[in-house]
Amino acid sequence: MSVHKPSPHDSAPFHVAGSARYVDDIPLPANALHLAFGLSPIARGTVRFDLSRVRETPGVVLALSAAETGPIDVAPAAHDEPLLAETTADGARVHYMGQPLFVVAATSHLAARKAARQAEMETAPDTPILTIDEALAADSRFEDGPVTWTKGDADAALSTAPHRLQGSIEIGGQEHFYLEGQAALAIPGEGGDMVVHSSSQHPTEIQHKVADALGVPMHAVRVEVRRMGGGFGGKESQGNALAVACAMVAARTGRPVKMRYDRDDDMTITGKRHDVRIGYDVGYDAEGRLHGIVFDQFVRCGWSQDLSLAVADRAMLHADNAYHLKDVRIVSHRLKTNTQSATAFRGFGGPQGVVGIERVMDEIAHRLGRDPLDVRRVNFYAAGHDADTSGKMPSQASGKIHVGAEDVTPGTDADVTSRGALREVAEPAGPVSTPPDGVQTTPYHMPVRDFILHEMVEALEKTSDYRARRAAVDAWNEAHPHVKKGIALTPVKFGISFTLTHLNQAGALVHVYQDGSVHMNHGGTEMGQGLHQKVAAVAADRFGLPLSAIRITATDTGKVPNTSATAASSGADLNGMAVKAACDEIAGRMAAFLAEQHQADPASVRFEEGRVHVGSESYAFTEAVQLAYQGRVSLSATGYYRTPGIEWDRLRGRGTPFYYFSHGAAVTEVVLDSRTGENRILRTDILHDCGKSLNPALDIGQIEGGYVQGAGWLTTEELVWDDKGRLTTHAPSTYKIPACSDRPEVFNVALWDDENRADTIYRSKAVGEPPLMLGISAFLALSHAASAYGASYPALDAPATAERLFFACRHATGA
Ligand code: MTE
Ligand code: MOS
Repeated sequence: MSVHKPSPHDSAPFHVAGSARYVDDIPLPANALHLAFGLSPIARGTVRFDLSRVRETPGVVLALSAAETGPIDVAPAAHDEPLLAETTADGARVHYMGQPLFVVAATSHLAARKAARQAEMETAPDTPILTIDEALAADSRFEDGPVTWTKGDADAALSTAPHRLQGSIEIGGQEHFYLEGQAALAIPGEGGDMVVHSSSQHPTEIQHKVADALGVPMHAVRVEVRRMGGGFGGKESQGNALAVACAMVAARTGRPVKMRYDRDDDMTITGKRHDVRIGYDVGYDAEGRLHGIVFDQFVRCGWSQDLSLAVADRAMLHADNAYHLKDVRIVSHRLKTNTQSATAFRGFGGPQGVVGIERVMDEIAHRLGRDPLDVRRVNFYAAGHDADTSGKMPSQASGKIHVGAEDVTPGTDADVTSRGALREVAEPAGPVSTPPDGVQTTPYHMPVRDFILHEMVEALEKTSDYRARRAAVDAWNEAHPHVKKGIALTPVKFGISFTLTHLNQAGALVHVYQDGSVHMNHGGTEMGQGLHQKVAAVAADRFGLPLSAIRITATDTGKVPNTSATAASSGADLNGMAVKAACDEIAGRMAAFLAEQHQADPASVRFEEGRVHVGSESYAFTEAVQLAYQGRVSLSATGYYRTPGIEWDRLRGRGTPFYYFSHGAAVTEVVLDSRTGENRILRTDILHDCGKSLNPALDIGQIEGGYVQGAGWLTTEELVWDDKGRLTTHAPSTYKIPACSDRPEVFNVALWDDENRADTIYRSKAVGEPPLMLGISAFLALSHAASAYGASYPALDAPATAERLFFACRHATGA
């Protein structure tokens, strides 16, 4: 079997040798053009500009503003994102600093960039709306008012609770910092055809927007994505502008056109993780058990809608994290500001929601003087296994821990279609079934039946030696006045499925050639997460072949159409099933043919270890393929999959949006120096649930990378805008992502080795996003360390940068 084995990333040798081909590495024809955008110097108002000097710059072939191109929309859903700032009588209307005003085509990348700075501009600025408070004051929003979901009676529960706590936390955004920046290449063909190579998580969306811009049917546009050098959600929608600009100029000039943002432009132009303020009002008892809770989530969405409504929904959907909230109200404000349009980022709003409730747990524990782990535990959902009546497999008595084996190769970082579209609200969701007695429900009324964090946290508590180390940390802190330690254990429960229900489908196309080699296509894209290798293992297993027999190919809209973005962590769940269906179709045809030849039962034909067994006969796979070919059996098939059993009414906040939950927990220990705010992660222990892992090596790589990215978000990565709306942290010199040396000195990652109770591909679970939220344990460990300097709760905002920690410590010590 190829599945469940720790095979390394298929591109790892190419990554290491530098031969992995990205968009910018594709050899260009000699007459190719290169693009650069001219950017708005103000955040709000109008800009008049003259492109004469741009056009005179050596190498420039073309410079276009919206006045020349006409309106072209690049928004993923709401049609509110012009490719170039829209023209008005007063000049181009701009909505954020860095918005593209015009596009330059030149004979080299450098010439295009130089020319883009030559425009003469005259600005008429309006006062920009930049912050959450400014947006609230101006009532600047994307929906008429806030969205509210309720369960039970939060106000009544709050008023009768023995204890009450109110507070709020600011949670900063995050730059994706994919190593490969945004890039696209358009090659015009005959008769108006266009081939686009794009660094995109969503080839179908690129195809759709390009076709729209060119005024051609989608069949005239083919989009290919071999791989991305990281996407992290930042290439779900943010690649549209580049691909559309390239195709538009290619159509006008008949020449191939390429565009890539340099790092400063990438950070200035594209959207990031949403920053969020979460207010909380909590009633609880002496044990820390929640009685009632109200969350107010203020989400800064930026200038256009992009995927923000769905992101804000997911922040609400994860406001409970692992905890049963009986009486709860969640209010979500989607605020419109004159900043980059915030977009998808690993977790898609979920992480912000989880930070809210984890902060509440931590603060309650501090007030009660209890171990935060105990407060978390009393609030966990009940283990709902016994109430499962859905006919799924019975749960195992208990999972085992599968420690990353020595042979594991960890670390793999190397409108029609968009999830922002909200058309599903038109079709009312079916009635929400009342769960059987005793099964607890989420704030959106979904029964929680596969909650396994009790067992997992108990196991992690032991393997990480949490209690003894917490005692040791307290003893250390007693003895050391300046350098304090902190430790925190935080869990994650993450819902798997696109919340826009119709996106939960996938297709595949598999060819078996006469020599027995297999060519595999599916709708998912590769961004370093190892999706292709996971899905190839499925194909290998279905045919009983070694992994090397399966050819991984570029994602191509001409082979598999109408795909969803590779997102919501569901790439392997969806595409793995679609590939399995395609392979089983071909294997079934071969089996039927061979069985007939041997008067055997087709069901008895087995594909194993490179051979096909029929009755008492056995053929090499290649031989069997040749026989089938000569017998005129089709050796090519499509496969299709859609996730069963999900329904969702987002306006009412009710339904079963998720097929299942993925779980995990982390313990992080840190050390903090109050004199500088300097800090380090000393040790991290993680236990993560990937179901029956499709590939433990890739999964451990995802968990390590996700954790470090989450810890970076909440500690060193700080986005700073000035009072004019300029993003001042637009390069690695000022924006600090974790470096290799920032990873935990001791980093123990183990998998919880238990089958998914939902019927997923080989009973595995999605892993892409959930581990990011394990980084919250680093944030709360710092909070614990900071709390050791004084009696008051430090109530840190995120990111907990060295500066913020320094001031928190000074405050705590009364300095
Ligand atoms: N891992 C790497 N190395 N690079 C990435 O860009 N993106 C993350 C996650 N892991 C990403 C990654 C995000 S945001 C998602 S949604 C999933 O991978 C998407 O892939 P999957 O559905 O195949 O897990
Ligand atoms: Mo991931 S944010 O769903 O691309």
